[in-house]
Amino acid sequence: MTDTLTIRRPDDWHLHLRDGAMMRAVLPHTAAHFARAIIMPNLVPPVVTGAQAQGYRDRIMAALPEGMDFTPLMTLYLTEDTDAADVAAAHASGLVKAVKLYPAGATTNSASGVANFDRVRPVLEKMAEIGLPLCVHGEVTEADIDIFDREAVFIDRVLDPIRRSTPGLRVVMEHITTSDAVDYASAQDDTLGATITTHHLVINRNHILAGGIKPHYYCLPVAKREEHRLALRRAATSGDARFFLGTDSAPHTDANKLLPCGCAGCFTAPNTMSILAQVFEQDAALDRLEAFASLNGPAFYGLPVNDTTLTLTRTAPAYPAHIDTEDGPVTVFDPGWPLDWSVT
Ligand code: NCD
Ligand code: ZN
Repeated sequence: MTDTLTIRRPDDWHLHLRDGAMMRAVLPHTAAHFARAIIMPNLVPPVVTGAQAQGYRDRIMAALPEGMDFTPLMTLYLTEDTDAADVAAAHASGLVKAVKLYPAGATTNSASGVANFDRVRPVLEKMAEIGLPLCVHGEVTEADIDIFDREAVFIDRVLDPIRRSTPGLRVVMEHITTSDAVDYASAQDDTLGATITTHHLVINRNHILAGGIKPHYYCLPVAKREEHRLALRRAATSGDARFFLGTDSAPHTDANKLLPCGCAGCFTAPNTMSILAQVFEQDAALDRLEAFASLNGPAFYGLPVNDTTLTLTRTAPAYPAHIDTEDGPVTVFDPGWPLDWSVT
């Protein structure tokens, strides 16, 4: 039995850092383990222009504690008014690594997202031309579509038509939660990638709803049936280059989670790597953790893998149940079992 695992330093291809006091509190937890992260732009107001992304990047770097080495990979929030020339300039300067598509109303802070997909066609065509990836929150928002079906319906009604009408567009299916998404991604060429979160490898919908409601397991897309979780586990541990880690670590204060209408999001930054080591070991795939967390993402984004490494050791780690922020406590995701692996 292996007791030590050294991998190339991982990257997080989907992360919410927020801003201000919350960002200062959560950023060190990601920077401690990850070299780079794709930073989600769903601030209030959202990060829409290149200038806003530059300002946000500067604030992140200013909040990074002395001595920590971390590179934020910035994204732009796609709106129906997004200017294709501004997107192209932000990409050409090296600042922006992806554009994020939120269907209007799909999730936290997505009110400025896209309702009429025809209106973003010029931006998508420019992105295909310059090779800038589109990160997609893949859920339809129609009230008559069951929340557990929204990802599968999105693939048929929105994602596949967008890809067919924009040949060459590089697309990341973000935080996939269904076997439908795994099957779709598996059948595509290398213009398509898919991120998988840590928590969706661990919980199914029973964890949220059986035996009392558990707001800290509520995130979007919502966790599905067990058969879907198992499909995600097979995809993540397969080594298939299309699948890579995007934690979607999404901090909300406990006060905002524990409401009659609580926020969606699981905060997994502190213990993600410990949980993943255990998940991959449970599936006899510890040797493929590096592909999922450190190799497949850079390959999709056309970036070098990290020079540095991360070592995990078989010892029980000590993670706090919650972290303190100036806005109040934020609960750390609890996998529901004791952890075996520590980042050392
Ligand atoms: C995210 C957030 O809180 O910003 N929430 C979540 O449940 N994942 C938004 C998102 O990625 O959907
Ligand atoms: Zn997210």
